Amino acid sequence: MNKILHLKKEHQKLVTNVEKEVFPNNWTSEQITLHLENKFSWNIGLLINNKIVSYSLCLFNSDYIEILRIGTLESYRSRGFASVLISNVEEFAIKKSIGKIQLELKENNKNAYKLYTSKNFKIDSIRKKYYLKEKKDAILMSKIL
Ligand SMILES: CC(C)(COP(=O)(O)OP(=O)(O)OC[C@H]1O[C@@H](n2cnc3c(N)ncnc32)[C@H](O)[C@@H]1OP(=O)(O)O)[C@@H](O)C(=O)NCCC(=O)NCCS
Repeated sequence: MNKILHLKKEHQKLVTNVEKEVFPNNWTSEQITLHLENKFSWNIGLLINNKIVSYSLCLFNSDYIEILRIGTLESYRSRGFASVLISNVEEFAIKKSIGKIQLELKENNKNAYKLYTSKNFKIDSIRKKYYLKEKKDAILMSKIL
């Protein structure tokens, strides 16, 4: 059964494992612990048979919520899971009267770009050659709620 789980400190190991599988430049377990402990973080995972298959790690303040990490295990992609997580972030933001969701992606991340445009995110600005090693730009996108 699919279930959305609010990720807290006690889920650190589960999050570290999924993060390792999804991102080549993964956050370390220490970074994940610090993030999950931050009272301004809001984090959710989609569980199938007690395994996190898709997750999103966010930080918020009164003005905006930022999606810092979002990922789906490769074999579970294109089933709408990340899209469902973004809808959950939107619902949380609206409940908290937070007016904006923002995020950043690498210019060549086509799947992420398609996902965000399908959720009506718009480009705000480009950080030229932000990813130094790959000489790639960062695209900053947001959605006003
Ligand atoms: C980007 C990423 C998070 C998308 O996750 P996802 O769970 O596959 O996303 P979704 O399924 O919600 O949406 C992606 C596609 O699935 C399609 N989709 C949505 N529901 C669907 C369904 N029920 N059946 C089939 N396809 C569906 C969407 O339309 C979209 O298709 P498109 O790309 O052809 O337009 C995923 O590719 C990923 O983890 N990438 C590596 C990490 C990463 O780059 N993260 C983003 C950093 S900015």
